[in-house]
Amino acid sequence: METIIGRDQKDREIYGKRGVILIGKNLVGDGEDAHLTTDVFLDVARPHVMTVCGKRGEGKSYSIGIIAEGLQTLPDEIRNKLCTIVIDTQGIFWTMKTPNEKDIMALREWNQPPVGFRAAVYVPEGQTKAFTDAGVDYDGSFSFAPSELTGEDWLSVFGLEATEPLGTLLQMVLGRMSRGYAIADMVSQARAEEGFESEKKTLEGMLRNAAGWGIFGSSRMPPLLVPGKLSVMDFSLTPQNVRALMLAIIGRRIFAERTASRRKEELAEMEFFGEARVPIPWILVDEAHNFVPSDEATPSSEMLNKIVKEGRQPGISVVFATQRPMKLHPDVLSQCDIIISHRLTAEEDVDSLKSIMQTYMLFDIAKYLNELPKLKGVAIVLDDNSERIYKIRMKPRHDCRGEHGFRLDYFDVFRRRADRGQQERGRHPVRWRFYKHRQSVRFRRQQRDSRSCRQEQRGR
Ligand SMILES: Nc1ncnc2c1ncn2[C@@H]1O[C@H](COP(=O)(O)OP(=O)(O)OP(=O)(O)O)[C@@H](O)[C@H]1O
Ligand SMILES: [Mg+2]
Repeated sequence: METIIGRDQKDREIYGKRGVILIGKNLVGDGEDAHLTTDVFLDVARPHVMTVCGKRGEGKSYSIGIIAEGLQTLPDEIRNKLCTIVIDTQGIFWTMKTPNEKDIMALREWNQPPVGFRAAVYVPEGQTKAFTDAGVDYDGSFSFAPSELTGEDWLSVFGLEATEPLGTLLQMVLGRMSRGYAIADMVSQARAEEGFESEKKTLEGMLRNAAGWGIFGSSRMPPLLVPGKLSVMDFSLTPQNVRALMLAIIGRRIFAERTASRRKEELAEMEFFGEARVPIPWILVDEAHNFVPSDEATPSSEMLNKIVKEGRQPGISVVFATQRPMKLHPDVLSQCDIIISHRLTAEEDVDSLKSIMQTYMLFDIAKYLNELPKLKGVAIVLDDNSERIYKIRMKPRHDCRGEHGFRLDYFDVFRRRADRGQQERGRHPVRWRFYKHRQSVRFRRQQRDSRSCRQEQRGR
């Protein structure tokens, strides 16, 4: 029988197989003898807090993509009750618009067609030129008003304490601002303050620097809570502390909007299949240890902790991806009801998984992880709803994922080629050779993966 992660027996009886997305197949057997068996689905009828973890390059971002595209493939009447917001830190999700022709063999084995999705990609207003130059196909821009930042946001993003003179000056400036102010108004106010002579210059420099982040402007935030919408927020060219700030503002808005809507919905409507006025959001956060780390507070820490703890009522689901689960805030990890763990080797990371789900003390998580075959996208799943542990292989993606860590070089090559209007001439000789080399390595790896997958299936 198929597995539905995140759905307990009672919901299985009520909903059957409605409101689920296919994410992979069960893996049976150890190491090289492992083979694929029944389908594994993920419940999207209830809000969940999930963590996807694993070593570098094991398939975390890919798995996030599987969830995002799964939400798009739901029947319309369910899809339109949900919406998806991907926080893209590596600039790899805009390629969801393109069908995954590269993995056509693997997709065929799973009886899946290559399909592109209607992803709305948004980039910060002040960075549009950089994205255009890099050849990124974005759909719009977003920006914030300085007044949308709270005093804590400013202090946190500048790394200041409220009690130090610079922090005090900043708070005084903010206190004197009236509605609809710009950074320039803050600078003039800082200059006009009495005292703080040595701090004024520093604060002015910080504020001018903030104006250069490219996140303040007039385009504001596009509507994200739209039925069935998949929004990709590309944070890849923004420094980390500013990324956290952007996520904090976006998250606060989503939370407020859903909470207001939730109040209007009748109790019965809280059930997924009831009428939801504002769609129920799934927020997918890549590299989440940078947004809610265990050892420090970032501008987004408080908001994410709030969503994780109180998000069930307004019906907000969050999926965090991280290389190091132990670096994720323990409160966040402990609220997860589903963990998808790709291969992990650091002992502390494996232990952090054990410590959050006491039930799994009965299982030897490290043993399960060691039994995973050396294939991309294999994982163990800890499901607190059924209190079970599964070994799975994630499915291949319908759409074309970006090749991270390589993007700007990659596009540089094509941009130059296009600029010169000729196929060959614009190729940067060294980068091009490197790109071709990477491509052929990837191709060989894919061939090997699909070969071993076929062998597994034959062996079944
Ligand atoms: N389920 C899968 N099926 C086939 N290939 C996969 C699967 N998962 C991952 N891969 C392959 O592994 C590569 C690396 O995956 P991905 O970028 O998701 O890793 P990651 O864990 O997010 O790495 P990082 O920690 O560097 O962000 C992908 O480009 C893809 O080719
Ligand atoms: Mg990744």
